[in-house]
Amino acid sequence: MCGLIGYCGEEPAAPLLVKALQHLEYRGYDSAGIATIADGRVQLKKDVGKLGEVRQKHQLDDLPGTIGVGHVRWATHGGVTQANAHPHTDCTKKVAVVHNGIIQNHRELRSRLEAKHAFVSETDTEVIPHLLEEHLTTSNSLEQAVLKTTRELEGSYALVIMSSQEPEKLVATCKDNPLVVGKSRKGNFIASDDLAFPESVTQIAFMEDDETAVVVKDNISFFTNDGHRIEKKFIEPSWNSGEVSKQNYPHFMLKEIMENSQSIRGAMVQDKKLITHMAMDILRAKQIIFTACGTSRYAALVGRYLFSKLAGKFSDVIISSEFHYFSDSIDKNTLVIALSQSGETADVMDGAKLAKKKGAKIFSLVNRNNSSLARMSDRVLYLNCGAEIGVAATKSFSSQLTLLYMLAFAMSNRLDEGLEKLNEVSIMVEKNFSKNGKNIEELAWRTKDKNDFYYIARGINFAIASEGALKLKEVSYAHAEGMPAGELKHGTLALIEEGVPVIAICPSDHTLKETLSNIEETRARGAFIVGISDQYNPIFHEWIEIPSIEYIYYPLLTIVPLQLLAYHSAIARGKDPDKPRNLAKSVTVK
Ligand code: F6R
Repeated sequence: MCGLIGYCGEEPAAPLLVKALQHLEYRGYDSAGIATIADGRVQLKKDVGKLGEVRQKHQLDDLPGTIGVGHVRWATHGGVTQANAHPHTDCTKKVAVVHNGIIQNHRELRSRLEAKHAFVSETDTEVIPHLLEEHLTTSNSLEQAVLKTTRELEGSYALVIMSSQEPEKLVATCKDNPLVVGKSRKGNFIASDDLAFPESVTQIAFMEDDETAVVVKDNISFFTNDGHRIEKKFIEPSWNSGEVSKQNYPHFMLKEIMENSQSIRGAMVQDKKLITHMAMDILRAKQIIFTACGTSRYAALVGRYLFSKLAGKFSDVIISSEFHYFSDSIDKNTLVIALSQSGETADVMDGAKLAKKKGAKIFSLVNRNNSSLARMSDRVLYLNCGAEIGVAATKSFSSQLTLLYMLAFAMSNRLDEGLEKLNEVSIMVEKNFSKNGKNIEELAWRTKDKNDFYYIARGINFAIASEGALKLKEVSYAHAEGMPAGELKHGTLALIEEGVPVIAICPSDHTLKETLSNIEETRARGAFIVGISDQYNPIFHEWIEIPSIEYIYYPLLTIVPLQLLAYHSAIARGKDPDKPRNLAKSVTVK
């Protein structure tokens, strides 16, 4: 949700900024821009389009200077136009600002400032450079002006700011949005994500809310929002841009789907003592609430099933953006389990912070090391699936499921048995890739003109139906709904007509007989049936075969063909599966 980068050092800044933005494009890709300082003034290029297009059109790499800021945008306030792209400047063009987040009181600020300042964009961000312009006239330094400015802002922000009046420094600050600084021998960086840093960055530090960093060529200093100096601990980066490559795959999404089995094994590498402690805490808690969004929420639904099935422990799942509305029932007897690949999703963070305030304990399942959610949780389990770049979550879903299986097994004192089984499943997932690939690709082409899909399943696979539908919607833009098979007849059946694809996840478990009856009801109305099952049934028009296994493990097997179907459907429809329209990977606005 907008990616920010800043660099101050000995090397030409522009090529470094562009390279970093390439690794931040998963956060936004509707516009891009960079600004540097050279010859005593801010030099700026920005435009609408993906970074590659803007880079080529404006020769971004050629901007002179050894200090600069860059931005990739995911529009919130103001349309996708060149004027709304970042960086933004003040009237004097001395200040350049890149921003991620939303300034809630931008209207009030703008109407106050408009008497004296010429606004050129429709963004909430633009109030910031104009406020800075005012405060710089009464401040000794850029950082002092930034502190005065942020005192006037309501909302959320990560900001990287520079001024041609003090061309040796960047000032950065954040509230409810991530920022991380990185040190290298030839200069220092600040970014929304350490994934943006080049391999030369050897030490990083995450910024907390209301901290300000002053970044110069050979030093980084930190201050509280009342101007007191603070020391921060630097750590080694957990991964860097060198790791992030498509290898020989045409898209990150396909590469990451192919990493599903590896992800299961990666997630299994945990401290067993920690898992057991967490399991005991979960069993002891009076109330367990999962909170998450999108794909992570569907993983949580599988978790809810597993906790109940394997440990007889009831839990509930609340969509993070709705969490606040249930705050009356949260107290110190509540244990919240927050799931988030990025660990930065604003809705999840918001829910977790509220729960913490009310005395609840927070456990989190997170992929990104040291992400905001991880840092604020009482206990964290890392997914260990490596960087996930495709905007659609794929391999991280398998990792989340694996951790939930492990917790549920630990809750029933059978962790070792569960680990053995998960290992077997990971091998099955791997073997099954080659079996169905062509089949699924053909199916995607065959259904490429269909615009409505219904995904149905029962029991533990219900969440997989929903996740399969979400994947298809995100990357192919076809309408899809996932639901419990038994729920169809309560309304949605009215939409089934000749040729409508119904994707039925129906392995041969105790739910099969009833699911088949529901499939029958759709087939009788002309639906085109795709069965995802270990057992052929003549009711299927198309059969996607999966191996047989003990029924609770089916989600790890059934999700893979659904991810592949979504991927191939995007390709068949001429869409870019890695960068679906209107979406971004890390959703840091509410
Ligand atoms: C779906 C997808 C989104 C995310 C959601 C939560 O493919 O990517 O629905 O799952 O935005 O993101 P995290 O897990 O980072 O909190």
